[in-house]
Amino acid sequence: MYHTLLTELENGTLIITINRPDKMNALNRDVIAELGAVLNDVYHKDEIKSAIITGAGEKAFVAGADITEFLALGKEGGSALARKGCELVFDKIENCPKPVIAAVNGFSLGGGCELAMACHFRIASVNAKFGQPEVNLGLIPGYGGTQRMTQLIGKGKAMELMMTADMTGADEAKSLGLVNYVVPAEELLQKAKDILQKIHLKAPLAIESIIACVNDAARCNPHGFDNETERFGACFATEDMKEGTAAFLEKRKAMFKGK
Ligand code: COA
Repeated sequence: MYHTLLTELENGTLIITINRPDKMNALNRDVIAELGAVLNDVYHKDEIKSAIITGAGEKAFVAGADITEFLALGKEGGSALARKGCELVFDKIENCPKPVIAAVNGFSLGGGCELAMACHFRIASVNAKFGQPEVNLGLIPGYGGTQRMTQLIGKGKAMELMMTADMTGADEAKSLGLVNYVVPAEELLQKAKDILQKIHLKAPLAIESIIACVNDAARCNPHGFDNETERFGACFATEDMKEGTAAFLEKRKAMFKGK
């Protein structure tokens, strides 16, 4: 169905594999358009409860935006490329009401690092490498990297990584807070699936609100506290809250419906 992606739905998790391994899974227009389309499915299809984004092959998650498409661009074209990518993919992932996690299986550079950072959290294989090397091309990150990297690892280290274009390995990425776990390559997808299975057992509307409120905090949204208060209240009007509290008092497992 897609030319640049492989998709597989397993136990409610849609595994989205960017499939241009001979080009290090670089994000060309087709990949961006197809990611945009598949994300619409994640948003709207009830059978999809969560998603994992990963890269095909053993070398790369995504080695950036497709540099061959940059040559023809001027000022307007550059801005449009960034804006469209953010709208179709990067912001859509960040704001997705269902959990989306990155399983980073190799080079995660430029737009690839930005793609991983747009996900709700990241798991890396031991061979993963992260970096924002745009400055080598006379560019800056354009898919939210200056913002999200600063949110995730703080100003000083974000400045250094973006200004030097240095790559950071999986263990350092973990110590920086860029990734949550580092696992052997062959365990990467399973680790991501296991975490999502745990999340699938929780109340979906509460998960949606956690994503929205934590995103507010990361963006220093001054309305974040108010949003939390409002969403906390809204939880009380859900069937799932009644079920969750009743199940606790009856000493049984809650069965949530997302209502
Ligand atoms: N855009 C377009 N093509 C890319 C690409 C990108 N971001 N990254 C890799 N490729 C292509 C290479 O041009 C090469 O194509 P070819 O076989 O037709 O020549 C192929 O993928 C394999 O890459 P190669 O550089 O030969 O592999 P490597 O193992 O020597 O190096 C990297 C791997 C990731 C270190 C290197 O490819 C690289 O630095 N890529 C660019 C990273 C970057 O600057 N990203 C930010 C873009 S804004």
